Amino acid sequence: MSEGSLELKKKIVKKGNLPAHVAIIMDGNGRWAKRRGLPRTAGHKAGVKTVKRIVRAAGDLGISILTLFTFSRENWKRPRYEVSAIMKLLYETTKREINELDENNVRLITTGRIEELPAEEKEILENAKNRTKDNTGLILNLALNYGGRTEILDAVKEFALDVKERKLEPNDLDEKTFSEYLYTKDLPDPDLLIRTSGEMRISNFLLWQTSYTELYVTNVLWPNFAVKDFYQAIWDYQNRERRFGKI
Ligand code: IPE
Ligand code: IPE
Ligand code: MG
Repeated sequence: MSEGSLELKKKIVKKGNLPAHVAIIMDGNGRWAKRRGLPRTAGHKAGVKTVKRIVRAAGDLGISILTLFTFSRENWKRPRYEVSAIMKLLYETTKREINELDENNVRLITTGRIEELPAEEKEILENAKNRTKDNTGLILNLALNYGGRTEILDAVKEFALDVKERKLEPNDLDEKTFSEYLYTKDLPDPDLLIRTSGEMRISNFLLWQTSYTELYVTNVLWPNFAVKDFYQAIWDYQNRERRFGKI
Protein backbone atom coordinates (compact mmCIF):
# COMPACT_ATOMS: atom_id res chain seq x y z
CA MET A 1 0.00 0.00 0.00
CA SER A 2 1.34 3.45 -0.88
CA GLU A 3 2.05 5.94 1.87
CA GLY A 4 -0.77 8.17 0.63
CA SER A 5 -3.38 5.48 0.95
CA LEU A 6 -2.11 4.47 4.37
CA GLU A 7 -2.59 8.06 5.51
CA LEU A 8 -6.08 8.09 4.03
CA LYS A 9 -6.91 4.82 5.74
CA LYS A 10 -5.85 6.28 9.09
CA LYS A 11 -8.10 9.31 8.54
CA ILE A 12 -11.02 7.03 7.64
CA VAL A 13 -10.60 4.88 10.71
CA LYS A 14 -10.29 7.93 12.93
CA LYS A 15 -13.41 9.56 11.50
CA GLY A 16 -15.40 6.45 12.28
CA ASN A 17 -18.77 6.82 10.51
CA LEU A 18 -18.10 4.03 8.04
CA PRO A 19 -20.81 3.07 5.56
CA ALA A 20 -22.18 -0.27 6.76
CA HIS A 21 -23.25 -1.33 3.28
CA VAL A 22 -21.26 -0.38 0.19
CA ALA A 23 -22.55 -1.34 -3.26
CA ILE A 24 -20.44 -1.11 -6.41
CA ILE A 25 -21.34 -1.03 -10.11
CA MET A 26 -18.10 -2.50 -11.42
CA ASP A 27 -17.97 -0.93 -14.87
CA GLY A 28 -15.32 -0.35 -17.54
CA ASN A 29 -13.75 -3.75 -18.11
CA GLY A 30 -14.46 -3.60 -21.84
CA ARG A 31 -13.03 -0.11 -22.25
CA TRP A 32 -9.93 -1.04 -20.26
CA ALA A 33 -9.29 -3.92 -22.65
CA LYS A 34 -10.05 -1.90 -25.75
CA ARG A 35 -7.50 0.76 -24.77
CA ARG A 36 -4.89 -1.94 -24.61
CA GLY A 37 -5.91 -3.55 -27.89
CA LEU A 38 -7.08 -6.64 -26.00
CA PRO A 39 -10.34 -8.59 -26.27
CA ARG A 40 -13.10 -7.50 -23.86
CA THR A 41 -12.75 -10.79 -22.02
CA ALA A 42 -9.22 -9.77 -20.95
CA GLY A 43 -10.86 -6.80 -19.24
CA HIS A 44 -13.15 -9.08 -17.26
CA LYS A 45 -10.18 -11.15 -16.22
CA ALA A 46 -8.35 -8.04 -15.03
CA GLY A 47 -11.54 -6.98 -13.24
CA VAL A 48 -11.43 -10.12 -11.11
CA LYS A 49 -8.12 -8.96 -9.64
CA THR A 50 -9.76 -5.71 -8.61
CA VAL A 51 -12.58 -7.66 -6.95
CA LYS A 52 -9.99 -9.50 -4.90
CA ARG A 53 -8.25 -6.38 -3.64
CA ILE A 54 -11.45 -4.47 -2.91
CA VAL A 55 -12.99 -7.40 -1.01
CA ARG A 56 -9.84 -7.52 1.12
CA ALA A 57 -9.79 -3.77 1.66
CA ALA A 58 -13.49 -3.68 2.61
CA GLY A 59 -13.11 -6.51 5.11
CA ASP A 60 -10.00 -4.95 6.53
CA LEU A 61 -11.70 -1.58 7.05
CA GLY A 62 -14.60 -3.21 8.85
CA ILE A 63 -17.32 -2.61 6.26
CA SER A 64 -20.21 -4.99 7.04
CA ILE A 65 -21.64 -5.60 3.58
CA LEU A 66 -20.12 -5.26 0.12
CA THR A 67 -22.55 -5.74 -2.77
CA LEU A 68 -20.96 -6.14 -6.19
CA PHE A 69 -22.99 -5.83 -9.39
CA THR A 70 -21.47 -8.79 -11.17
CA PHE A 71 -23.93 -9.67 -13.93
CA SER A 72 -27.20 -8.00 -14.85
CA ARG A 73 -30.24 -9.53 -16.52
CA GLU A 74 -29.54 -7.15 -19.40
CA ASN A 75 -26.00 -8.52 -19.77
CA TRP A 76 -27.40 -11.71 -21.38
CA LYS A 77 -27.86 -9.55 -24.49
CA ARG A 78 -24.08 -9.42 -24.99
CA PRO A 79 -22.40 -11.69 -27.57
CA ARG A 80 -22.50 -15.33 -26.56
CA TYR A 81 -18.74 -15.71 -26.28
CA GLU A 82 -18.57 -12.81 -23.82
CA VAL A 83 -21.38 -14.18 -21.67
CA SER A 84 -19.71 -17.62 -21.59
CA ALA A 85 -16.37 -16.06 -20.70
CA ILE A 86 -17.94 -14.17 -17.79
CA MET A 87 -19.72 -17.31 -16.56
CA LYS A 88 -16.47 -19.28 -16.78
CA LEU A 89 -14.64 -16.59 -14.81
CA LEU A 90 -17.36 -16.64 -12.18
CA TYR A 91 -17.04 -20.40 -11.84
CA GLU A 92 -13.24 -20.48 -11.77
CA THR A 93 -12.91 -17.53 -9.42
CA THR A 94 -15.42 -18.88 -6.92
CA LYS A 95 -13.70 -22.26 -6.98
CA ARG A 96 -10.23 -20.77 -6.58
CA GLU A 97 -11.06 -18.17 -3.94
CA ILE A 98 -13.54 -19.93 -1.69
CA ASN A 99 -10.90 -21.32 0.71
CA GLU A 100 -9.36 -17.93 1.28
CA LEU A 101 -12.75 -16.23 1.64
CA ASP A 102 -13.78 -18.82 4.20
CA GLU A 103 -10.49 -18.51 6.10
CA ASN A 104 -11.04 -14.76 6.22
CA ASN A 105 -14.47 -15.24 7.78
CA VAL A 106 -16.27 -13.82 4.70
CA ARG A 107 -19.88 -14.87 4.17
CA LEU A 108 -20.82 -15.15 0.52
CA ILE A 109 -24.42 -14.45 -0.46
CA THR A 110 -26.10 -13.67 -3.78
CA THR A 111 -28.86 -11.36 -4.95
CA GLY A 112 -30.74 -12.04 -8.18
CA ARG A 113 -32.29 -14.93 -10.05
CA ILE A 114 -29.58 -17.48 -9.31
CA GLU A 115 -31.88 -20.33 -10.33
CA GLU A 116 -31.58 -19.20 -13.96
CA LEU A 117 -27.77 -19.42 -14.07
CA PRO A 118 -26.10 -22.37 -15.84
CA ALA A 119 -26.02 -25.52 -13.68
CA GLU A 120 -22.28 -25.53 -12.87
CA GLU A 121 -22.25 -21.88 -11.81
CA LYS A 122 -25.36 -22.36 -9.74
CA GLU A 123 -23.90 -25.37 -7.98
CA ILE A 124 -20.55 -23.84 -7.14
CA LEU A 125 -22.25 -20.72 -5.79
CA GLU A 126 -24.69 -22.71 -3.68
CA ASN A 127 -21.78 -24.70 -2.23
CA ALA A 128 -19.82 -21.53 -1.48
CA LYS A 129 -22.83 -19.91 0.18
CA ASN A 130 -23.50 -22.99 2.23
CA ARG A 131 -19.91 -23.36 3.29
CA THR A 132 -19.60 -19.76 4.48
CA LYS A 133 -23.09 -19.32 5.93
CA ASP A 134 -21.94 -19.21 9.57
CA ASN A 135 -19.06 -16.80 8.97
CA THR A 136 -19.35 -13.54 10.85
CA GLY A 137 -17.02 -11.20 8.96
CA LEU A 138 -17.66 -9.25 5.76
CA ILE A 139 -20.84 -10.18 3.88
CA LEU A 140 -19.90 -10.38 0.22
CA ASN A 141 -23.08 -10.07 -1.79
CA LEU A 142 -22.80 -10.85 -5.51
CA ALA A 143 -25.63 -9.40 -7.58
CA LEU A 144 -25.97 -11.98 -10.32
CA ASN A 145 -28.58 -12.21 -13.03
CA TYR A 146 -29.95 -9.21 -11.16
CA GLY A 147 -32.40 -6.62 -12.46
CA GLY A 148 -34.01 -3.99 -10.26
CA ARG A 149 -37.35 -3.93 -12.05
CA THR A 150 -37.54 -7.72 -12.14
CA GLU A 151 -36.87 -7.77 -8.41
CA ILE A 152 -39.72 -5.35 -7.77
CA LEU A 153 -42.09 -7.35 -9.99
CA ASP A 154 -41.08 -10.61 -8.28
CA ALA A 155 -41.88 -8.97 -4.94
CA VAL A 156 -45.26 -7.71 -6.18
CA LYS A 157 -46.18 -11.19 -7.44
CA GLU A 158 -45.27 -12.79 -4.13
CA PHE A 159 -47.23 -10.22 -2.20
CA ALA A 160 -50.24 -10.73 -4.49
CA LEU A 161 -50.05 -14.48 -3.85
CA ASP A 162 -50.01 -13.90 -0.10
CA VAL A 163 -53.07 -11.69 -0.43
CA LYS A 164 -54.79 -14.35 -2.52
CA GLU A 165 -54.01 -16.90 0.18
CA ARG A 166 -55.36 -14.45 2.73
CA LYS A 167 -52.14 -14.20 4.69
CA LEU A 168 -52.23 -10.40 4.29
CA GLU A 169 -54.49 -7.64 3.03
CA PRO A 170 -53.58 -5.02 0.42
CA ASN A 171 -53.66 -2.40 3.14
CA ASP A 172 -50.93 -4.19 5.07
CA LEU A 173 -48.47 -3.11 2.42
CA ASP A 174 -46.08 -0.45 3.65
CA GLU A 175 -42.41 0.22 2.89
CA LYS A 176 -41.16 -2.16 5.54
CA THR A 177 -43.45 -5.00 4.51
CA PHE A 178 -42.61 -4.51 0.84
CA SER A 179 -38.87 -4.59 1.60
CA GLU A 180 -39.37 -8.01 3.10
CA TYR A 181 -40.50 -9.34 -0.28
CA LEU A 182 -37.32 -8.18 -2.03
CA TYR A 183 -34.26 -10.35 -2.71
CA THR A 184 -32.40 -8.15 -0.22
CA LYS A 185 -34.85 -8.68 2.63
CA ASP A 186 -32.08 -9.53 5.10
CA LEU A 187 -29.89 -6.54 4.23
CA PRO A 188 -30.00 -2.86 5.12
CA ASP A 189 -30.11 -0.42 2.17
CA PRO A 190 -26.71 0.56 0.77
CA ASP A 191 -25.25 3.67 2.38
CA LEU A 192 -22.86 4.28 -0.50
CA LEU A 193 -23.06 3.31 -4.17
CA ILE A 194 -19.84 3.55 -6.17
CA ARG A 195 -19.82 3.38 -9.97
CA THR A 196 -16.53 3.15 -11.84
CA SER A 197 -15.72 4.39 -15.36
CA GLY A 198 -17.75 7.56 -15.30
CA GLU A 199 -21.23 6.57 -16.45
CA MET A 200 -23.90 8.61 -14.63
CA ARG A 201 -26.62 5.99 -14.48
CA ILE A 202 -28.03 3.33 -12.21
CA SER A 203 -28.43 0.64 -14.92
CA ASN A 204 -31.36 -1.09 -13.20
CA PHE A 205 -29.39 -1.73 -10.01
CA LEU A 206 -31.10 -1.82 -6.58
CA LEU A 207 -33.83 0.62 -7.63
CA TRP A 208 -35.86 0.37 -4.44
CA GLN A 209 -32.91 0.14 -2.06
CA THR A 210 -30.95 3.16 -3.30
CA SER A 211 -33.64 5.75 -2.64
CA TYR A 212 -31.41 7.51 -0.08
CA THR A 213 -28.03 6.02 -0.94
CA GLU A 214 -25.07 8.38 -1.42
CA LEU A 215 -23.72 8.15 -4.97
CA TYR A 216 -20.06 8.28 -5.93
CA VAL A 217 -18.94 8.08 -9.56
CA THR A 218 -15.29 7.89 -10.53
CA ASN A 219 -13.78 7.92 -14.02
CA VAL A 220 -11.33 5.17 -13.06
CA LEU A 221 -12.05 1.97 -15.01
CA TRP A 222 -12.80 -1.05 -12.84
CA PRO A 223 -9.58 -2.99 -13.62
CA ASN A 224 -7.60 0.11 -12.57
CA PHE A 225 -9.67 0.76 -9.42
CA ALA A 226 -7.11 0.71 -6.63
CA VAL A 227 -7.51 0.46 -2.87
CA LYS A 228 -6.73 4.18 -2.65
CA ASP A 229 -9.65 4.91 -5.02
CA PHE A 230 -11.89 2.84 -2.76
CA TYR A 231 -10.64 4.76 0.28
CA GLN A 232 -11.26 8.01 -1.57
CA ALA A 233 -14.92 7.05 -2.09
CA ILE A 234 -15.32 6.10 1.57
CA TRP A 235 -13.68 9.33 2.72
CA ASP A 236 -15.93 11.34 0.42
CA TYR A 237 -18.95 9.58 1.93
CA GLN A 238 -17.77 10.22 5.47
CA ASN A 239 -17.65 13.94 4.79
CA ARG A 240 -21.16 14.29 3.44
CA GLU A 241 -24.27 15.34 5.25
CA ARG A 242 -27.11 12.86 4.82
CA ARG A 243 -30.37 14.72 5.28
CA PHE A 244 -33.15 12.27 4.36
CA GLY A 245 -35.45 15.17 3.54
CA LYS A 246 -34.88 16.87 6.86
CA ILE A 247 -32.99 20.12 7.45
C1 IPE B 1 -18.43 -4.31 -16.45
O1 IPE B 1 -17.62 -3.90 -17.51
C2 IPE B 1 -18.58 -5.80 -16.37
C3 IPE B 1 -19.92 -6.32 -16.67
C4 IPE B 1 -20.95 -5.57 -16.99
C5 IPE B 1 -20.11 -7.75 -16.61
P1 IPE B 1 -18.19 -3.73 -18.98
O2 IPE B 1 -18.01 -5.03 -19.71
O3 IPE B 1 -19.56 -3.21 -18.97
O4 IPE B 1 -17.17 -2.65 -19.56
P2 IPE B 1 -17.52 -1.45 -20.55
O5 IPE B 1 -18.62 -0.67 -19.93
O6 IPE B 1 -17.92 -2.07 -21.85
O7 IPE B 1 -16.25 -0.69 -20.63
C1 IPE C 1 -23.92 -2.58 -15.24
O1 IPE C 1 -22.97 -2.31 -16.20
C2 IPE C 1 -23.94 -4.06 -14.93
C3 IPE C 1 -22.78 -4.59 -14.20
C4 IPE C 1 -21.78 -3.88 -13.77
C5 IPE C 1 -22.79 -6.02 -13.96
P1 IPE C 1 -23.33 -2.25 -17.74
O2 IPE C 1 -22.08 -1.97 -18.47
O3 IPE C 1 -24.06 -3.48 -18.13
O4 IPE C 1 -24.34 -1.02 -17.81
P2 IPE C 1 -24.78 -0.12 -19.05
O5 IPE C 1 -25.17 -1.07 -20.14
O6 IPE C 1 -23.60 0.70 -19.44
O7 IPE C 1 -25.89 0.71 -18.54
MG1 MG D 1 -20.31 -1.32 -18.99
